[in-house]
Amino acid sequence: MDKFTDVNDIGPLDIAVREALEVKADRYGFTHLGRNRTLLMIFFNSSLRTRLSTQKAAMNLGMNVMVLDVNQGAWKLETERGVIMDGDKAEHLLEAIPVMGSYCDIIGVRSFAGLKDKAEDYEERVINQFIRYSGRPVFSMEAATRHPLQSFADLITIEEFKTKERPKIVMTWAPHPRALPQAVPNSFAEWINATGYEFVITHPHGYELAPEFVGNARVEYDQRKALEGADFVYAKNWSAYADPDYGKVLSTDRSWTVDSEKMGLTDNAFFMHCLPVRRNMIVTDEVIESERSIVIPEAANREISAQVVLKRLLESL
Ligand code: CP
Repeated sequence: MDKFTDVNDIGPLDIAVREALEVKADRYGFTHLGRNRTLLMIFFNSSLRTRLSTQKAAMNLGMNVMVLDVNQGAWKLETERGVIMDGDKAEHLLEAIPVMGSYCDIIGVRSFAGLKDKAEDYEERVINQFIRYSGRPVFSMEAATRHPLQSFADLITIEEFKTKERPKIVMTWAPHPRALPQAVPNSFAEWINATGYEFVITHPHGYELAPEFVGNARVEYDQRKALEGADFVYAKNWSAYADPDYGKVLSTDRSWTVDSEKMGLTDNAFFMHCLPVRRNMIVTDEVIESERSIVIPEAANREISAQVVLKRLLESL
């Protein structure tokens, strides 16, 4: 594997999940792979889980780790070619990327969607420049349109908790006060569609995701109907994708908050969320604190998904 930006990079999912469970059972069994290898993690945006879990995964593999927060202490970076750089941005990505590549063996990049220009976001301009100019294997720590380390961890968690061969998974939009990217729901849809499990996406009108991510999922605008018989409920907010409302918050309707009454419509479903979560906007205290909430093991599996990805990138060096 020479990059990891979407589900296609990981190959067959059953093999990837099996490898994840092997790594989880023996997470210090591969330290020889990372000896004298350096991971550089570059954050254009904030993080708790991705930062800690990926660093831990790299340390499990014996790697050295460097972290750069681009917006705290580094030169401000220009990302557009052709710009006259007479503003506050002191360095261009086109120099910064190969320089960063010269100090490491593998690069992880977090760069969220700006939510202003759909074409720019969906071209994945920033991470693609790293892939093109760094000379190193690059993996996504959440890019503009996908968050594959999260989706891989979500899938590992589903495989660990499922009690049916083909569970019903419902991804539901839920309210949030701020405009959030579509990366997590896009990516979750992409990965769950690849499993062939029963998959329903529910959201208010206006929150339709890009068709290439919805794939064969059933879209149901009645949240209660969607939740009937669910085995897993995956809650997430996202901003509008469709024009002319791209990147906008169209609703903060708290009748979409996941509560105990709605969880009662499911087949005793597990509750999932990638975190961080806004309590009593996305989900009630009662649901997230219930014994069917698996948000903590889900977050813990971020270490495992990152370790499998790093292991495969190291094996290909
Ligand atoms: N779920 C996730 O990626 O969390 P962070 O934004 O804290 O890294």
